[in-house]
Amino acid sequence: MNGATHFRAMQPTRVIAVTSGKGGVGKTTVSINLAVALASLGREVVLLDADLGLANVDVLLGLSPARTLTDVIAGRCTLEDVLVTGPAGLRVVPAASGIQHMAELSEHERAGLISAFNQLERAADFMVVDTAAGIAANTLDFCDASHEVLVVVTDDPASLTDAYATIKVLNQRSRRNRFRVLVNMAQDDQVARRVYRRLLEVTDRYLDVALDLAGVIPLDGHVRSAVRRRQALVDAYPASRAGQAFKNLAATTDKWPIPRWASGRMEFFVERMTRMESLGRVVNV
Ligand SMILES: Nc1ncnc2c1ncn2[C@@H]1O[C@H](COP(=O)(O)OP(=O)(O)OP(=O)(O)O)[C@@H](O)[C@H]1O
Ligand SMILES: [Mg+2]
Repeated sequence: MNGATHFRAMQPTRVIAVTSGKGGVGKTTVSINLAVALASLGREVVLLDADLGLANVDVLLGLSPARTLTDVIAGRCTLEDVLVTGPAGLRVVPAASGIQHMAELSEHERAGLISAFNQLERAADFMVVDTAAGIAANTLDFCDASHEVLVVVTDDPASLTDAYATIKVLNQRSRRNRFRVLVNMAQDDQVARRVYRRLLEVTDRYLDVALDLAGVIPLDGHVRSAVRRRQALVDAYPASRAGQAFKNLAATTDKWPIPRWASGRMEFFVERMTRMESLGRVVNV
């Protein structure tokens, strides 16, 4: 093993949950394009589809997985069996329909899940988690277990209200006090900044949290065209405005500091997801 490989092996997998509260604001679009753009930068990326809805990552990327995370939890196969390879070597863990509340897994299932994530042969630099709309227990579990929570918002009062509700509940559950905000479907930069400021106004007034503006993705018809082509936008239309914005987002994300409490292995993710009581200790970074 040379020095560079060794150094890389020591880096923790940085887990980013993409969430919103409100449905249809672009979580899956953001997850896919952020993941593909990070992979195109040469990073090892795993995209965990934690949404049980219909328009899923595998469909949008034209992949056909035979098995899902549910099979891993049930001990029917390993995580490696479930992974499907997407663009730029991105590895996708397909949606696990019928997955239960992570904190309610049996000890046996939990141990299986931990070892499944530890057995990922190649260490991942990033794991992007696409969550479901709403604040169901499972979505909150995934967010709580992640290093970073990227809250997607649009210029829509319901999106802001739901983003605020999500931030509030995550802050109360696990005392997470830092969130990243991504304004999607923005008409222009001025509108995006106004959306971000509005969210900041309410969180500043009622919560003790810091919100960083992670980026702005413009409203762009190429997003839907890429969906029709079953391709990531950053692959299908790399020069489009939204495509460029996703590449910028990936470049910025790649430079986010590694949280002090990040461990080097995937184990922590499942540990944290299934053992919420230990969270308060570690989330304040
Ligand atoms: N920047 C954008 N410009 C134009 N259309 C967009 C943009 N982002 C997302 N869309 C479109 O908006 C719709 C919803 O996007 P997406 O499925 O990613 O949202 P979601 O938050 O994952 O939804 P759900 O809550 O159902 O999981 C899709 O048709 C998608 O193509
Ligand atoms: Mg989605």
